[in-house]
Amino acid sequence: MKNEMRIGIFDSGIGGLTVLSECIKGTAGVSYYYYGDNRNAPYGARGRSEITKFVKTAMEKFAEIGVSAAVLACNTATAVCAEQMRNAFSFPVIGMEPAVKPAAEICKHALVLATPRTAESERLQSLLSRFPQCHFTVFPAAKLAGAIEATLTTGAPFDLTEHLPQGRFDGVVLGCTHYIYFRREISDFYGVPVFDGNAGTANRLLSLLDRSCRGRDDHLTPQNTNVCLFQNVSGITRNNVYFVGKDGGINKKVYKSEQMFQFQAKKIFIF
Ligand code: DGL
Repeated sequence: MKNEMRIGIFDSGIGGLTVLSECIKGTAGVSYYYYGDNRNAPYGARGRSEITKFVKTAMEKFAEIGVSAAVLACNTATAVCAEQMRNAFSFPVIGMEPAVKPAAEICKHALVLATPRTAESERLQSLLSRFPQCHFTVFPAAKLAGAIEATLTTGAPFDLTEHLPQGRFDGVVLGCTHYIYFRREISDFYGVPVFDGNAGTANRLLSLLDRSCRGRDDHLTPQNTNVCLFQNVSGITRNNVYFVGKDGGINKKVYKSEQMFQFQAKKIFIF
């Protein structure tokens, strides 16, 4: 227990479970602490200071747990306050980056779906400006994340097509982790490939863990020799997942019931 490698994964709600599942595929011997702030979700149209306050509460919980690193598995939180969290906490804070780069490699006109806060953020605008070869249409989907949160946690009726803009695009960037649950449907709606940032974020965590395992990174403590990385190998079942925060039960239920998460954790707890 003392030497256990703990990683915190945070989202406004259930969206970050998709990031957790990507991270967990690459590791063994890690204890993941998932904090979803479901009662305050969706964050996407809230004010910046309110979002920052919620994220800080989650990071304080992670500090109390003694995580070695935290992942903001939420594009909105990353856009609004990743830098502030990095300055405020001693553990590394990894953020989400919308998968604009891979989209720009093959698309001429891509749609970027994101929450209003992410859509208007300087962070996204400066990322897009690095890829002038592709024209990006950014669409702030005001209610999409909330509708996905509601349908997957309470079974509320949901019609994806009400939330998607019409238009012809040759690719879609999913700039919110909630949208990943409907990856296939969004791809079918436009008949084009979709891109998300989950693999990029998981890879950043894995390389941090890798450096730590090799003793090349003293940012992560404890230096846990029992942590192994299994990049590109799925079905390894030696991580633990703890669901923390007041809504741990909601996230645990979605994690255990969704088809896309059928694998991986050795034990699943509510903390
Ligand atoms: N899943 C989050 C994101 O990636 C937040 C969605 C929301 O709470 O509005 O942006």
